[in-house]
Amino acid sequence: MHTIMIVDSNDTELVAMQRAFEQTCSVITMNNAKGALGRLSKSTVLPDLMIIDLEIVGISAFELIGRIKGNDKMKDICVVIISGDKDTSTELEAFRLGAADFIHKPVNITLLKKRVELQLEVLGYKKQVQSHVNQLQQNVNFHAQNSLRLEYFLIGMITDLISVKDGFTGMHSIAVSKYMGIILKDMMMSGINYGIAPEDYELILLSAQLHDMGKIGVPDNVLRKEGKYTDEEFTQMKNHTVYASNAIERYAYLLPNNKFIVYTYQMARYHHERYDGNGYPDGLSGQNIPFLARVLAVADVYDALISKRSYKQPITHEQAYNIISQGAGIQFDPQVVSAFQRAQADIYEASRQMQAQSLAMQAEQSKQAEMHNSMLQKSKQIDQANTRVF
Ligand SMILES: [Fe+2]
Ligand SMILES: [Fe+2]
Repeated sequence: MHTIMIVDSNDTELVAMQRAFEQTCSVITMNNAKGALGRLSKSTVLPDLMIIDLEIVGISAFELIGRIKGNDKMKDICVVIISGDKDTSTELEAFRLGAADFIHKPVNITLLKKRVELQLEVLGYKKQVQSHVNQLQQNVNFHAQNSLRLEYFLIGMITDLISVKDGFTGMHSIAVSKYMGIILKDMMMSGINYGIAPEDYELILLSAQLHDMGKIGVPDNVLRKEGKYTDEEFTQMKNHTVYASNAIERYAYLLPNNKFIVYTYQMARYHHERYDGNGYPDGLSGQNIPFLARVLAVADVYDALISKRSYKQPITHEQAYNIISQGAGIQFDPQVVSAFQRAQADIYEASRQMQAQSLAMQAEQSKQAEMHNSMLQKSKQIDQANTRVF
């Protein structure tokens, strides 16, 4: 049942209208504007429609409409005006303020009922449309969230597979993305962004985690080799940039112009290019190397230097800082190196956090291995006991 509030200072009119609607609606009557406003602001359930006599006492009817339509909580109440004023400008002013209908006095109750019924019908349609729009919005949000989760799922899975393949602690991809984030933020704040939109920041860091995904295609004996590579092994290793970009090229048609794909491609293919042109796979130099790949290159080398690998021991942050600084304009973009130097304290702090996380992950992995062994043991014992019974 709809609720209607009638505001009229004339008691006879008020009672007549109340009688007209009380069979079909819940009716609230008020004989002045201030009382009506007070009631509205205190109510948790608002009327669907208000019939307001333009000649009410207290504040003016126009002010009352203005306050209702200017209030977020009340603005959807449908307002119908009744008035003895025949001036068109009065009528227009009521509509301008948000009234839905204007009925001239003397009011014919049957006509008023019909006009109010029409407004309530429109209100019903509006509510239906709004609920449909809300439902659609919920569906869109649900799908957007699901597709984002799917992206995180796939990226997590790929980085996990890479870490299983190359025997790292599993943190390299995440660490590189973190260091890159710090450098990139510094550059963007200094206005050096090469057209990268600030809202793409998170997306870029997500893509950065995939920069070494091509290592899945490199033979294990090369990836895990201790000591120096032969020329042939080095060529195989270098191919990880091409494997990744080839895979992206094959499937990019599924999502044309997708920024995530473009960023992933730039970083996966070009992160081993050098500023002096002596890198791989394409020997690009200077600004011809995509910007994000130039930023990632510094983060990637920094993590490689401070981390333990099968073929080398880690070096300190200070040593890595010096090596990267010396590489400005040779291996690395000087602007990226400057940003790295400015942000070095934050990068050092992040590296300490990453090392702590890496240790925690190793502890978790050995706990998992212990659990696995104990389950295996129990399973064997049960099998032996069953064999004795039969
Ligand atoms: Fe790489
Ligand atoms: Fe890497």
